[in-house]
Amino acid sequence: MSLEVRNLRIVLGGRAVVDGVSFDVPDGARVGLIGESGSGKSLLALAILGLLPDGAEATGSIRWDGREILGLPDRDLAALRGDDIGIVFQEPRTALNPIRTVGAQIGEAVRIHEGVSRREALRRAIAEAGRVALPDPEHLVTRYPHQLSGGQRQRVAIAMALACRPRLLIADEPTTALDVTIQAGILELLRALVHDAGMSLVFITHDLAVLAQVATHAVVLADGRVVEQGAVAELLRAPASPVTQALLRDATTTLWHPEIDPPDARASRPSDRGAPSGSDADRRGEAP
Ligand SMILES: Nc1ncnc2c1ncn2[C@@H]1O[C@H](COP(=O)(O)OP(=O)(O)OP(=O)(O)O)[C@@H](O)[C@H]1O
Ligand SMILES: [Mg+2]
Repeated sequence: MSLEVRNLRIVLGGRAVVDGVSFDVPDGARVGLIGESGSGKSLLALAILGLLPDGAEATGSIRWDGREILGLPDRDLAALRGDDIGIVFQEPRTALNPIRTVGAQIGEAVRIHEGVSRREALRRAIAEAGRVALPDPEHLVTRYPHQLSGGQRQRVAIAMALACRPRLLIADEPTTALDVTIQAGILELLRALVHDAGMSLVFITHDLAVLAQVATHAVVLADGRVVEQGAVAELLRAPASPVTQALLRDATTTLWHPEIDPPDARASRPSDRGAPSGSDADRRGEAP
């Protein structure tokens, strides 16, 4: 199932905060939405999910599996979120209820989707917790969100999003609130889950290095508009827009991408000879 966004415009408080945005997420594709803070990434995601804040007006077209979903009644959008599209937000605390056990919350996501009994839902919650590699799932499901680490809470949020077996997962900065080593584990998990389930992914970030680890296609936003889009490898090799060039300079971790940095090239790249990795020449894909 594919997602097609066409000429999307979102007006909030008299201002176009998203303007003329078009991009595709073909079935099974992994697309990154990237841009500075305030560029409209989250509102784009919320528009796809039918969760825009009150007062926001969206025009244009968002098609899911060929069907127009922009402006669908709430009931239909809720069904879509339950069945086809899952979401993971930046701060897992906001997705989790502090006074209910982790197992009850994952189990509820399963129950909404499959209508199984509470007992069966708990059994499934344990299985889902295992699927996102949470330690000791049987014990973990009896605990409350505040008893978990930030990374564990985000794994719970991912388990809840995936409980409905969505065809598309939208992840809005799912690792930004986590420290770098935890972040790497979550990215690896997302990549594996998306790959194994053959899901499509829309991954939102302001960090091009993070995007390069999970997405194959990038849509670069600035002030609510698309300034550049294309294959990630191409963007890293030859960023056309100054915005992308700035994102490339600001990328946090060492850039590594299989297509621009094949294993045999890595053997001779500057970083392996002691120079800092991710140098400008490295990033532009020039010979050292
Ligand atoms: N509920 C709202 N009411 C009014 N303006 C809003 C609302 N939500 C977002 N905006 C404005 O819309 C613009 C885009 O916001 P959005 O949250 O989509 O940015 P973002 O790219 O996700 O930024 P960040 O990287 O900080 O999460 C910003 O100028 C923001 O101030
Ligand atoms: Mg945001």
